[in-house]
Amino acid sequence: HRPVVVAVDGPSGSGKSSVSRAVAARLGAEYLDTGATFRAVCWWCLENDVDLEDRPAVAEAARQLDLELGTDPTGPTVRVQGRLVAEELRTSRVSSAVSAVATNLDVRAELRRRQREVVDAARGGRGVVLEGRDTTTVVTPDADVRVLLVADEDARLRRRARDVHGTDDAAARERTRDEVVRRDRDDSTVSEFSVAADGVVTVDSSALTLEETVDAVLALVLRAV
Ligand code: C5P
Repeated sequence: HRPVVVAVDGPSGSGKSSVSRAVAARLGAEYLDTGATFRAVCWWCLENDVDLEDRPAVAEAARQLDLELGTDPTGPTVRVQGRLVAEELRTSRVSSAVSAVATNLDVRAELRRRQREVVDAARGGRGVVLEGRDTTTVVTPDADVRVLLVADEDARLRRRARDVHGTDDAAARERTRDEVVRRDRDDSTVSEFSVAADGVVTVDSSALTLEETVDAVLALVLRAV
């Protein structure tokens, strides 16, 4: 089949990374984690003492950064100034601070441009599954398939707690509440990702396993190609 572009948006803990990665692997397509681009800018600014509230300085950093976006669904790799960063991007320090970077509109414009380059290259190649907060609406409103992946708050807290703390007991869920609920509230000031835009299909994964969710998205892809 022809190369497809699949865009998946959703809140923290909706499962969009695991689902998007698995869908990309099944399609033999590339995978782009747009959140990692915001995390990379945030991480670099924290490392280099750029004040995240200094919006022009952060935007300039985003424009100057040497950012290499690997697109292998089995192990996406981001390089910042040549350095491979993985766990560095997922620390709670970065998770707590990233909304300040993501609400910077000049940073958004610059990262959208870079994300778009990856998509345009993949469109002529193996296709791509990209995921984030505004991929269905802003980055690739022209995607072949656009999905809003949602899950109820309890399911999202459980998943994030298992990822971050290795358990989803009540204490671990409470510890992830700030990261999941507060961050989504802050993020939603710049992009609406709780309501599906026109033409975007909502998939609710609250009661689905990962495999069932992947199958639901793949069914939409098959219908579109
Ligand atoms: O998906 P992930 O949790 O890695 O995203 C990290 C942060 O990047 C989000 O909290 C949000 O602030 C920002 N983001 C965004 N737009 C996207 C993807 C991520 O603003 N398309």
